[in-house]
Amino acid sequence: MKHFINLKDISGKDLRKILQDAKKRKKKRKGWDSLKEDKDSPLKNKLIIQMFEKSSLRTRLSFYLAIKQLGGGTLTLRTNELHLGEGGESLEDTAKILATYGDGFMFRTDSDEKIEKLKNYLSIPLINGLSPSSHPTQVLSDIFTVEEIKKKPISKLNIAWIGDSNNVLNSLIAASIKFNFKLNIGCPTSYCPEKFVLDWVEENNKKLYIYNNAKKAVVDADVIFSDKVISLNDKVNRKKKLSQFVNFKITQKLLNFAKKDCIFLHCLPRGSEVDEKVFFSDQSKVWQQALNRIHVQKSILLYCFGKLR
Ligand code: CP
Ligand code: NVA
Repeated sequence: MKHFINLKDISGKDLRKILQDAKKRKKKRKGWDSLKEDKDSPLKNKLIIQMFEKSSLRTRLSFYLAIKQLGGGTLTLRTNELHLGEGGESLEDTAKILATYGDGFMFRTDSDEKIEKLKNYLSIPLINGLSPSSHPTQVLSDIFTVEEIKKKPISKLNIAWIGDSNNVLNSLIAASIKFNFKLNIGCPTSYCPEKFVLDWVEENNKKLYIYNNAKKAVVDADVIFSDKVISLNDKVNRKKKLSQFVNFKITQKLLNFAKKDCIFLHCLPRGSEVDEKVFFSDQSKVWQQALNRIHVQKSILLYCFGKLR
């Protein structure tokens, strides 16, 4: 059994295997109804418990469908109905019970520390469905989407990120090392990636291209990623932060600095960082991106259960 917590801790070889498996499985299901089980039902009789300490639409639904398509069962716990937290039950005892009843645990948390502790207590696979510092299932799925659309390995593409240096970017940075692609980052000076991320980049002899200018960051880009300026539980002066990002809005004018066939991706939900015209244009592939999370998460689950083909 394996956990899936941060891309940086998983080998490039395993990540590539996950993507290959997702590609095969997706192809086999073409035209199937969303709840129809895959023929091999690899998670038959397994219970995957989910819990969200923060809001979620896509992660919740895509994991539900991923688990069902693999033949498993799933249950979502409400954080305010557990003894963990205000009820005083410890994380250790909670973990023991999760593993007594369940076979896997998908957790969206507001604390990196909690996920690190939980990892040590849980004897069943733990999947990180977003933490303050990373969003690994999202980004691995996004690599899948990029390669599906561009029909080439991501290592041959120029990727640009325009926006806040948040959890999604941290995972994209980890992916740029694991999959060896060029990553340009466009962000205001005071919102550059944090030191712990840059230290890890340096340890891995990776070069990131950070510009405090959106146009420079998107020159020659094959893909432009963005995300909300204000993330969940981002405790900032919203007005001030938003004003610092006004020159980092994704507009058609900005896209014109990128390659002609450049695509736009966004994990969603969106804020005002992307112009409506771009968001609903043919260059925007956000719906395909959201759908692919089901397929990639299935293969992530199989990786955790040692069942990748
Ligand atoms: N992209 C993403 O994780 O969306 P949710 O927050 O709705 O799950
Ligand atoms: N960076 C965003 C991602 C949401 C899926 C957040 O953490 O809120």
